[in-house]
Amino acid sequence: MDLPPLLRRAVDDVLESTALSDLAATAEALSQRYRDERPHAISDRDALAYLAVRLPATYAAVRASFDAVAQARPDFAPKTVLDIGAGPGTALWAASECWPGLADAVLIETSSAFRSYGERLAAGLEMPHVTWRVADATVDAIDCGTRDLVTLAYVLNELAPTVRHSLLQRLWEQTADTLVIVEPGTPTGWQRILAARSQLIEAGAHVIAPCPHAHACPLQPPDWCHFAERVARSRVHRQTKRAHVPWEDEKFSYLAVSQKPATHAGARVIARPRKGGGHTTLKLCRPDGSAGDQLVSRRAGALFKRARNADWGSLF
Ligand SMILES: C[S@@+](CC[C@H](N)C(=O)[O-])C[C@H]1O[C@@H](n2cnc3c(N)ncnc32)[C@H](O)[C@@H]1O
Repeated sequence: MDLPPLLRRAVDDVLESTALSDLAATAEALSQRYRDERPHAISDRDALAYLAVRLPATYAAVRASFDAVAQARPDFAPKTVLDIGAGPGTALWAASECWPGLADAVLIETSSAFRSYGERLAAGLEMPHVTWRVADATVDAIDCGTRDLVTLAYVLNELAPTVRHSLLQRLWEQTADTLVIVEPGTPTGWQRILAARSQLIEAGAHVIAPCPHAHACPLQPPDWCHFAERVARSRVHRQTKRAHVPWEDEKFSYLAVSQKPATHAGARVIARPRKGGGHTTLKLCRPDGSAGDQLVSRRAGALFKRARNADWGSLF
């Protein structure tokens, strides 16, 4: 997946006057802090490094999560969105690509560096109302009423465990239709998604994706539910990361819940399909709440063809 051309150009414009080789050390330190899950204040250089090396990956993960929502709920056409921990506006861009009818966005972000770059990038978006607020979502009132879509992408991991529950409760109260949470695709990211899933189901939410059911998660550690998106690395991205490979895989875990039920049109493919000569093996999470491998052989005809076309994350 690549960034939308408009966003790609806006990012390149912001980074134009920055020496990318100088940004490499900042980008490496930033990525390491995210890998170690060490929350930190964002400096201006951190925000620039994020645009170069993290935005393409988080965009791909968020966009893929939204695609799963759109597939499960083709009738969902949000007009309003609230994005918490917006960073440079990643989820706003992904949402406006997925649902072009979005007309009003409120973005809450603690970092003024992110906010100012986010505002600059979003100037190119054709959305009538975009409001940025520098605020701490765990403390400050988020007085924008209920919103069709509420998003929390790569933020839970930055919050103290003690405040996650109350923030999620407030966000669910502000969700007129759908709430989407995205986390790094690590075992700890999945644990945070699982905790949010239990809390929200208890609060009456309907699970939209990725689980095709609301039963207990059938996976047991050391296994964990996660997905991967292949992210195209631009020239700027490669230079900042001092990387030669033109792509990377972003692993993520996510949860979409709604006030309205979805019809689950199949099982979710929860690992990369394994393709042999005359067969394909899919690891599936099924609507009855079970998970396991399904081997589909060439003899299965049309089913085999569908298994061959299935991807990690798609419905089968
Ligand atoms: C890893 S970044 C993710 C940014 C963006 N959502 C994305 O997916 O690219 C996490 C963001 O959450 C913000 N954040 C962390 N805690 C917050 C809080 N309590 N209130 C508002 N924003 C917060 C951070 O400043 C940072 O910009």
